Amino acid sequence: MTQNVLVVDFGAQYAQLIARRVREAHVYSEIVQSTISADEVRAKAPAAIILSGGPKSVYEVPAPSLDPAIYDLGIPVLGICYGAQLMAQQLGGDVANTGIGEYGRTTMTRHGTSVLMEEWPASVTCWMSHGDAIARAPEGFVVTGSSPEGPVAVMENVERRLHAVQFHPEVAHTEHGQDLLSNFLHHVAEIPPTWTNTSIIEDQVAAIRAQVGTEKVLCALSGGVDSAVAAALVTKAVGNQLTCVFVDTGLMRKDEGEQIEETFTRQFGVELIHVKAQDRFFDALAGVTDPEQKRKIIGELFIREFETVARELGKGDDGPRFLVQGTLYPDVIESGSGHAANIKSHHNVGGLPEDLSFDLVEPLRNLFKDEVRHVGEELGLPAEIVWRQPFPGPGLGVRIVGEVTRERAEILRNADHVVVDEIKKAGLYRELWQSFAVLPAVRTVGVMGDGRTYAYPIIIRAVTSDDAMTADWARLPYDVIEKIANRLIREVDGVNRVALDVTSKPPGTIEWE
Ligand code: XMP
Repeated sequence: MTQNVLVVDFGAQYAQLIARRVREAHVYSEIVQSTISADEVRAKAPAAIILSGGPKSVYEVPAPSLDPAIYDLGIPVLGICYGAQLMAQQLGGDVANTGIGEYGRTTMTRHGTSVLMEEWPASVTCWMSHGDAIARAPEGFVVTGSSPEGPVAVMENVERRLHAVQFHPEVAHTEHGQDLLSNFLHHVAEIPPTWTNTSIIEDQVAAIRAQVGTEKVLCALSGGVDSAVAAALVTKAVGNQLTCVFVDTGLMRKDEGEQIEETFTRQFGVELIHVKAQDRFFDALAGVTDPEQKRKIIGELFIREFETVARELGKGDDGPRFLVQGTLYPDVIESGSGHAANIKSHHNVGGLPEDLSFDLVEPLRNLFKDEVRHVGEELGLPAEIVWRQPFPGPGLGVRIVGEVTRERAEILRNADHVVVDEIKKAGLYRELWQSFAVLPAVRTVGVMGDGRTYAYPIIIRAVTSDDAMTADWARLPYDVIEKIANRLIREVDGVNRVALDVTSKPPGTIEWE
């Protein structure tokens, strides 16, 4: 049986990151809300508990607390930041508002021996973010680390297996941070590092089989990584009960439809319905220039197309009962569970109408994006699909400023292909968050051969980012920009000028619309 670690969420954006670091230590983790009771914890029988940081002060009213009986369950606990202060306060220590917080890079000095920091240097750089500080550790605890403004930066009660750190071991800026988590998991809690992507696949395949039984399953493929991996998992579990639907909106990347057909029909042998809906999309978009209106038209029409297929398949009694969704773990968290601020509202192609009632199969609900990619590789999906950069639901539609027509979509699709191709050849594709072409609504004068031209410019947009919430424009090497520019002019009809977007986010967005 998989040994599980509970990450108790006190409202930190970091809870997710902690869960992910735990997985990187090859231990399975699950995030739970801080209202969880000791009985509920006992029922889940975790091998360890980690208390996350949080935005509140333990003295604020109301501030999230923890059922103190949890400390008496005999389960190893690691408190981080707010979690450390709460542990100190609940077990009889003192937390004080010193008036001088520590934010960012801080030096932490070690004292004596510590099971968490075995073989560390005498002082390390760590990442802090606190206003309050633990002033006195509870009885039974030994202080094994301190910082300039944090007399108790690390405290440990080895006998009770309760440990707490004021700094954030989960962030990359903390030296040896991952070591500390590994020591806690493997040495204090004695959890073997056995959790792997392969066990994700086996667990999910078993879970899908148990959930769907002999019923039929439907899956919408978008060309993106998530829906492809979700579909591949369902294929492995119940391939002959699965029907995939790919709606070609005319706003896909070059060769996207063929690639999906090749993979799912020929390689995986899945039944695939390829809806060639380009004409209907271009007709609906004719004359529309407002970005939001375009998005709405594309989203609604997509649903209508999908609905038509679903109803057709649903005629009679043996239609599909289940719908596969590529929901990822960050989507689950960001939809506003617990205390974490609701960061972003998802603007994916909208929800399905209510009268189309499906039960959802969400095999990626517990995974982070890079884990999804590894699972995809493991399942034999081609690298072009697995390592694809994010692509918006409305497709090229949000990169064509002004009216979306067949001709303009074709110009942009060809230009996008050139940009991506050169970025891949330069070995930059995976390190960039997104890199693509944008087609503005202006034309400019140029001269090619002996003639005057009046054609579109293409904007090169390439950004680095961790999560799309903020982004920086990528400093592409000049020779790569030059190659892209030359090929765009030479190979893409209708283009006579190339520009580079040097706007970060904020103030810009990644997409142009
Ligand atoms: P922006 O342009 O807001 O984009 O900086 C942030 C991220 O979201 C993607 N994006 C979308 N994805 N439907 C989607 O599914 C949309 O309407 C949409 N608009 C932007 C964008 O590609 C980037 O990764």
